[in-house]
Amino acid sequence: MARDILVTSALPYANGSIHLGHLVEYIQTDVWVRFQKLRGNRCIYVCADDAHGTPIMLKARAEGIEPEELIRRVGEEHQRDFADFAIGFDNYHSTHSDENRELAETIYNALDAAGHIAKRTISQAFDPDKQMFLPDRFIRGECPKCGTAEQYGDACEACGATYQPTELKNAVSVLSGATPVERDSEHYFFQLADFEDFLHRWTRSEHLQEAVTRKLDEWFEAGLKDWDISRDAPYFGFKIPGTDDKYFYVWLDAPIGYMASFANLCARRDDLDFDAFWKAGSEAELYHFIGKDIVYFHALFWPAMLEGAGYRTPTAIHAHGFLTVNGEKMSKSRGTFIKARTWLEHLPAEFLRYYFAAKLSGKVEDLDLNLDDFVARINSDLVGKYVNIASRCANFISKRFDGRLADTLDRPELFERFAAAADEIGQHYEQRRFAQAIRTIMALADEANAYVAERAPWQLAKEGGREDELQQICTTALALFAQLTIYLKPVLPETAERAEAFLNVEPLSWADLATPVSGTIRKFKPLLRRVEQPAIDKMLAASQEDLAAKPAPQSEPAQDAQTDAQPSKAPGKKEPDTQGAATDTIDIADFAKVDLRVARIEAADHVEGADKLLRLTLDVGALGRKQVFAGIKAAYDPAQLEGRLTVMVANLAPRKMRFGVSEGMVLAAGDSPHILSPDAGAAPGDKIK
Ligand code: 2FM
Ligand code: ZN
Repeated sequence: MARDILVTSALPYANGSIHLGHLVEYIQTDVWVRFQKLRGNRCIYVCADDAHGTPIMLKARAEGIEPEELIRRVGEEHQRDFADFAIGFDNYHSTHSDENRELAETIYNALDAAGHIAKRTISQAFDPDKQMFLPDRFIRGECPKCGTAEQYGDACEACGATYQPTELKNAVSVLSGATPVERDSEHYFFQLADFEDFLHRWTRSEHLQEAVTRKLDEWFEAGLKDWDISRDAPYFGFKIPGTDDKYFYVWLDAPIGYMASFANLCARRDDLDFDAFWKAGSEAELYHFIGKDIVYFHALFWPAMLEGAGYRTPTAIHAHGFLTVNGEKMSKSRGTFIKARTWLEHLPAEFLRYYFAAKLSGKVEDLDLNLDDFVARINSDLVGKYVNIASRCANFISKRFDGRLADTLDRPELFERFAAAADEIGQHYEQRRFAQAIRTIMALADEANAYVAERAPWQLAKEGGREDELQQICTTALALFAQLTIYLKPVLPETAERAEAFLNVEPLSWADLATPVSGTIRKFKPLLRRVEQPAIDKMLAASQEDLAAKPAPQSEPAQDAQTDAQPSKAPGKKEPDTQGAATDTIDIADFAKVDLRVARIEAADHVEGADKLLRLTLDVGALGRKQVFAGIKAAYDPAQLEGRLTVMVANLAPRKMRFGVSEGMVLAAGDSPHILSPDAGAAPGDKIK
């Protein structure tokens, strides 16, 4: 019987670009959803942008725009990136929506009416300059345990201690540099401990992976604490009903965004009923795919909120690990912090889908993108094995039989064996053991290739005279190829579409595994191209260039959500990704640290493999000669630059890039940046005062 399944991926924050770390999740969710649809289940995949919170408010402020404008722009960028990676959402919405406001209010009111909300006055760090309370990540100071400087307000990167921001020594606000003061305010708390018994049962009833249950045990032992769900103005979010200046903390309305996106879809689709999926006792299945850093929210707060407000709870939470590239954390300076768009500019989306699928185990393990292995694997599996089957046989059918396939197979038992693998491969997909599914599929591809090699249709064609046999062999190979296409379709939907066009068939589904393709095929066109090392090199160089072209302000708490997570140490304390948040003032002492100098451009050269960079050789007077890679290629013919004066930051720590070491930064402005030039009278080496 067809199942009703609702699936979500975590909602990305509306203040940063999608990168490969995010895609580990969206790709695996999408593969699972496509598998369910292929099997004939009614599977609905919804997502949305996570649009609220302090970093988004501050980023909009820094850009001089309303937060609504920022989240609209970023939301559109996200949706383009997802579409180009073939992430097939049934709906993509925003947490800043009417549906979400209504649902958040309904849920909050229900929890409040049932006595699960408490109000208490607490004392928190407040920025007297900016007149606002400071999230932990916006305070820096010395660790109260080990004294290491420049630590965030929640945890020390040196010794691992966790603490309250008020415990930091010599704390400063990242926003203004002011010393935070403590200020009282009334906060609203969700009393998680009211749900202790329910959660104890729920977390032990097959809703979670084993590793997640073990983690939860630690949290249960530490005791379930009240969760602070309110934030004071100024804040970008929804006002708490019955208050003037209190807002729901972004994490309160974020998961409700799953429901809101689904509600938004229901309004457009007559066949979907919101209550049938969400009311208590619903028979529909509900799955949330998430990263391991946000387990606390999804396995404790979220089921408790749903239970407390009278809704159904999730069928399961599917948590996954983080992405590493070449065995290490993604790194901007190594060029391995790769944005979705940068990948798309150099490599096909489906190659990443395939590689991720080939490595996903369904466990909460980190996944490594090893780029050498990636190249070898794509070329060997997809081009060398899968496509090869069709490319070796298609032309015989086209040229000698007018594209007509034979009515009988040369080796029906081989076809049957491929069909019989459906149970095993289906189980692997269902359990999210995609790596095992791919291994099984590639073992079949090996068999198909061995069959073609053994029957050597090219030999028969050369010898001539056994035309029926030749047609049957090639038909058998193409029937096996069609079966492999079905097996790979959740991972490679676009290649499957091209294969269907070549085979001249309607979109293939799981049920078609049992029937050999028939009729007339179209002319074969290469379905996939090999991946070559230069494409990888260019992509890494371009990722480094993103960094060179747009340096992040030094003092901002710039960290990606993936890299700053401390789930085990600070459960439940996770602010939005603060990448790109505002740092709109610095004090004079900070400014004085920047050594700005006049520099003469002695030489400007193109950099091989870089789209945006020029290599500048700068004469900086007494400071000697410096090499700087500058993202200004769009605006200049390098020859025009030679001899001109400009201004550089001369005391920036040298940075190793793919093309060489960059020893500073020239000042430039605008979208395709133009350099700044001093007026006549300035000389190389002069200090800017
Ligand atoms: O960690 C994050 O990136 C959050 N924006 C995920 C939210 S998931 C859900 F709860 F909305
Ligand atoms: Zn410390």
